[in-house]
Amino acid sequence: MRTQMGSLLILAVVCMLNGGAAEQATDPAQAETPAQRDERMQWWREARFGMFVHWGLYSGLGGTWEGKAVGTRGGMEWIQQYVKADTDTYAQAAIPKFQPGPDFARAWARLAREAGCRYVVLTSKHHEGFALHDSAASEYDAGSVLRRDLVKEFVDACRAEGLRFGFYHSVIDWHHDQYAYGLSKQLPHPLKDKPYPNGERDHGVYLDFLHRQVDELISNYGAVDILWWDYSAQDFQGDAAWRAFDLMRKVRAKQPRIIMNNRLFRSPEAGWASMGTDGYMPQLDPKYGDFITPEQHIPATGMPGVDWETCMTINTTWGYSEHDHAWKSAQTLIRNLVDIASKGGNYLLNIGPKGDGSVPQESVDAMRRIGVWMRKNGESIYGTQASPFEKLEWGRCTRKPLANNITRLYLHVFDRPSEARLVLPLANRPLKAFLLDGGSSLKAEAVGNAIVVPLPAALPDADATVVALEIEGAPRL
Ligand code: GLC
Repeated sequence: MRTQMGSLLILAVVCMLNGGAAEQATDPAQAETPAQRDERMQWWREARFGMFVHWGLYSGLGGTWEGKAVGTRGGMEWIQQYVKADTDTYAQAAIPKFQPGPDFARAWARLAREAGCRYVVLTSKHHEGFALHDSAASEYDAGSVLRRDLVKEFVDACRAEGLRFGFYHSVIDWHHDQYAYGLSKQLPHPLKDKPYPNGERDHGVYLDFLHRQVDELISNYGAVDILWWDYSAQDFQGDAAWRAFDLMRKVRAKQPRIIMNNRLFRSPEAGWASMGTDGYMPQLDPKYGDFITPEQHIPATGMPGVDWETCMTINTTWGYSEHDHAWKSAQTLIRNLVDIASKGGNYLLNIGPKGDGSVPQESVDAMRRIGVWMRKNGESIYGTQASPFEKLEWGRCTRKPLANNITRLYLHVFDRPSEARLVLPLANRPLKAFLLDGGSSLKAEAVGNAIVVPLPAALPDADATVVALEIEGAPRL
């Protein structure tokens, strides 16, 4: 009897535990309170600036196929799709050109730190299907082909430079022989509209493989900060396409503090309005992911209450192309970072290293120039909140609450107003104002229902001069 009672008790406890697990399986975010979520998101919200790295077999091809430029604009990590190559033809052309040097990862990590980035996201596998880690689940990976684990080299380098890191992982796969591309009309595949070369395909077998590779990535490299999924279509997404909730639950079970984007889904509840890269919505139920990813685009106004990150290229391609010379100026990039911070978002700025891992000089120069600006003005970006103002003709604003009921506003002046002063529609008492770089003080006075800050004769920084203005209390417009 005693033993029977004991087993009943154990049975009851086991049932309770299983019940909890089952609930988590359907909704991985449900177990977390909003306060716990804020705590998990804190470093990411404060970071504001990260570096994206697109690197894979396509990097060696550099936008050239059979001696000809495939294009001068657009994502050349899609080159296999553009030339409609089957995976064997593609691999044969690309593998000999993918020859990573010994110290590529340290150079990237140093560049990211010099630029002022707080985190780096690397393509562990792009749509081409080639995995950069040493994968036991595949022969199409750096371990099998190069006898190296490029993900480990990357992770070690990020840790050495004190950077957070994450993996971009493509759920689309142009290599795997069971990836059933016929199930979606919207997702790209080089063989689209053609019959499967191997007859039937069992997408479930591909999903086992996908889950297994992701498991390797979250099991073999210690704490991973970000999983950046890519991507889904309205006609193929979520559970049906990727067993998405199960995948997210497995990831969170091993990496409880990880931050994931919403690209395993493509529905309005998950923050998506359409298939366009700017087709996102200012809403996101956390069970679909932690943040929204406007691509090549800065939302006109912020998205209050939603975490978002604009990812962007420095020229127009994610993966390296020797033919793309449409480089954005450092000033544009600095102002983009400021603009994004003023709207409460993060900036994930991309580099596309070459097949040997070296970074195009234009990208190195741009990143370093951002770094020069950030060393002087980073305080106006890291850990700041969105602007309280709807629009400022001359620039942007971020803010930070200080102790003793003081708010510090960071006024980023892009264009010197002709009347040579900043006029802010604020009813607060101004306490002090100064140039963030160098600290020389400026006058700040209340005039009617506004605060007026006269500017010096010349603005010291042509990219963005930052005026710090301290006011009493939270901004009152
Ligand atoms: C896209 C593209 C891709 C790129 C990515 C970055 O969806 O397919 O090539 O890696 O977005 O956001």
